[in-house]
Amino acid sequence: MLFAGFVAPVASDTAENFMSFFNFLTVVSVILFVITAAFGIYFTFKYRRRTENDEVPYIHGSNWIEWGSIFVIAVISAVIFVWGYLDYRYQIAPKMDEYEINIVGRQWSWSMEYEHGARLANQLVLPVDTPIALIMKSEDVLHSFFIPAFRTKQDVVPGIFTTLRFTPNKVGTYNIFCAEYCGTDHSGMMGEAIVLSQEDFQRWQDGLLNIPEFVKTVGANVAANGGNLNSGALDPAPAKSDLALTPMAAKGEKLFNTKTCSTCHSIDGSRKVGPSFKGLWGSLEETQDGAKVKVDENYFRESLLEPMKRITKGYPPAMPTFKGQLTDDEIRYLIAFVKTLK
Ligand code: CUA
Repeated sequence: MLFAGFVAPVASDTAENFMSFFNFLTVVSVILFVITAAFGIYFTFKYRRRTENDEVPYIHGSNWIEWGSIFVIAVISAVIFVWGYLDYRYQIAPKMDEYEINIVGRQWSWSMEYEHGARLANQLVLPVDTPIALIMKSEDVLHSFFIPAFRTKQDVVPGIFTTLRFTPNKVGTYNIFCAEYCGTDHSGMMGEAIVLSQEDFQRWQDGLLNIPEFVKTVGANVAANGGNLNSGALDPAPAKSDLALTPMAAKGEKLFNTKTCSTCHSIDGSRKVGPSFKGLWGSLEETQDGAKVKVDENYFRESLLEPMKRITKGYPPAMPTFKGQLTDDEIRYLIAFVKTLK
């Protein structure tokens, strides 16, 4: 990697794509700069005033040079656009077997919640070489989740879910920053992404690997990264259990019954007042006005809080709003539950 060493470590697939593109841009810029500067210097010297009586020569334009440069610049611009577009499309596309982690931003810390029940403050534990999807939301103001070593950044917004995708490909510890000014301690809203080997990640999930110890012994660049004082486990990873559902989904199942969702929605595919939740997640639903909507985090949240906005075709507008009755955390648990109903 040409310029990789001058900037942050390169530790994800996105970062590698980004650096190839960045190197291309840098090389093209340097070449164009050298050519332009060389002609400038050469002409300054060649056409300098030699005597007091020199007259400025009248120079005609050259169609060949003008159209030639326009063509070359147009081609370079098109390459830059297509390359950037393809990288971006790859980055936002859902991958096979993604590992999902919930991120909540607030003034001024991050919390990371895992399907198996662990909840961490300012520490994002990741398995190497595994496609990751971060499902993110904010509890207060705009934040932005930024991992320079992965070359990924995404706004974290109150009221909606945003998603950030990448595949970390180097074991190590990397900085997380908030990249959107969010108040007094914005600059202190930091964390660390800890990429473990897949075996270590499994051991961590099973409660056999303690992250602070791991960081102390293996994460040699934590100190170089400035470290982080207020990091640590809020809820340690629970020991492996025989539960059919992950702790998050189990909480969601409980809410599904206590909030009486089950009155109108089945989980076995049978029709009640509303659509069944079986196989619902990720499907394309047709709304009353014929538009298609994908059942994702944002549509699910909207259906709970503003159910009349987009009703599935063929069903009565019978859904009550749950505004003020469900916390954002509870909505995330319900989502985790519905995701299990394949
Ligand atoms: Cu959060 Cu800046």
